[in-house]
Amino acid sequence: TFVVVDNCVKCKYTDCVEVCPVDCFYEGPNFLVIHPDECIDCALCEPECPAEAIFSEDEVPAGQEKYIELNAELAEVWPNITEQKDPMPDAAEWDGVPDKMEHIIR
Ligand code: SF4
Ligand code: F3S
Repeated sequence: TFVVVDNCVKCKYTDCVEVCPVDCFYEGPNFLVIHPDECIDCALCEPECPAEAIFSEDEVPAGQEKYIELNAELAEVWPNITEQKDPMPDAAEWDGVPDKMEHIIR
């Protein structure tokens, strides 16, 4: 499965959702996640993310492993998103800021 990691937080560009053939993205207020049981590992979303925040679960950057479990957890409670929308208003400022997990609004 593929996983959304730290750099999506407070950016949420949503380019990823447009290309997913199985519509397995779920959206919170300032982050989104992939449902691990629905993702078919097509890899189409990975190059679409301007924030480079999508990885195969085997390739999640060191220190961001908690995001694997977090994607599974939040995909069960957040609503599905299938169409691109505007990014977060200050996405450009937050793009590249490390350790944003504490900022996730549930
Ligand atoms: Fe969707 Fe494919 Fe990305 Fe999985 S890898 S979330 S199926 S686009
Ligand atoms: Fe997030 Fe990248 Fe999608 S920033 S919303 S994973 S395009």
